[in-house]
Amino acid sequence: YTAEIDASDIEKGTYAHYMLKEMDEQPAVIRNIIQHYQNENGDIELTEGVRSLVSEADRIYIVACGTSYNAGLVGKDILERIAGIPTEVHVSSEFGYNMPLLSSRPLFVFLSQSGETADSRAVLVEVKKRGYKALTMTNVPGSTLSREANETMLLHAGPEIAVASTKAYTAQIAVLAILAYDIARANGKELPFELMPELARVATIMDSIMSQKELFEDLSDRYLKTTPNTFFIGRGLDASVCLEGALKVKEISYIQAEGYPGGELKHGSIALIEDGTPVIALISQPKTNLNIRGNVKEVVARGANACIISMQGVEHENDEFILPHVEPILAPLITVLPIQLMAYYAALARGCDVDKPRNLAKSVTVE
Ligand code: AGP
Repeated sequence: YTAEIDASDIEKGTYAHYMLKEMDEQPAVIRNIIQHYQNENGDIELTEGVRSLVSEADRIYIVACGTSYNAGLVGKDILERIAGIPTEVHVSSEFGYNMPLLSSRPLFVFLSQSGETADSRAVLVEVKKRGYKALTMTNVPGSTLSREANETMLLHAGPEIAVASTKAYTAQIAVLAILAYDIARANGKELPFELMPELARVATIMDSIMSQKELFEDLSDRYLKTTPNTFFIGRGLDASVCLEGALKVKEISYIQAEGYPGGELKHGSIALIEDGTPVIALISQPKTNLNIRGNVKEVVARGANACIISMQGVEHENDEFILPHVEPILAPLITVLPIQLMAYYAALARGCDVDKPRNLAKSVTVE
């Protein structure tokens, strides 16, 4: 079922929108990434330049904007839990002028689909001025952020035309996982599972989810189509994906959406919950399952219309959709798909321009 990727293919083909085509390409992108980052023995292979750059670092600073920042939040969890390297994530425009004086040997990792985001480049200029090292992960070879960094890891996602980023988000998470695994291997760390076979399994599960679009169109009609606002709630990795879900919904369907850590709602924002307020809960992490389900009960008790999207292993029979199981640390690659699709169908239902939303540009080259 995988939509093939042809790097020169920037035509919509039979697709109504680039965004739909690019969502469909996500399984192929994961397979592309596996192919590009493993050698003939099936081992992860990075360039010597990347490996030596990373080996010198004792702390990673991920710097990015928008969807790439949201991917960085997932990357932080993966780098810290798999590679054991302390990692911070910063919004580019907030970091440039208040970069801390660092006593460590930091590596700055710039995540940027376009490789041209001015906010991120401004930080890279400052990083180099201070003599620090930079690695760029981008979808565009030869882009500014790629040329000006010490090393680059490409996303191999093929051109992403829709303003709303989808396949670059999942590609960034996969490439960050590959980097984390390579660091762990270099440091002789115990690995919880074999990454590349699990990524291949993720791609197959992505195919199966993308083949059920009408299901998510139905969920979108029931929860998002007519609402003025919505919440995405989760805990841990799911909370990071909720930020991306909220951004997608805001960007293309113009619904006021918030991504919120489930446990934090009761500290104020739950005041916004009214009768019928749609609350979409992502539940994929065993260790937070019971707590986030308690948070769902809290909002339902206040009138919310809850839509739970969970994963095998933490499912409950009343959940609206139960995703096939993947390693919890890679769950964002799967849990993001339903909310990308729900955002897409909400935008369609509301007559929005899916590929070119108002006020937005594909690459923000101004600070
Ligand atoms: C995401 O859907 C948006 N298009 C936007 O937030 C984007 O992720 C952000 O501008 C960063 O772009 P970049 O990845 O090209 O640096």
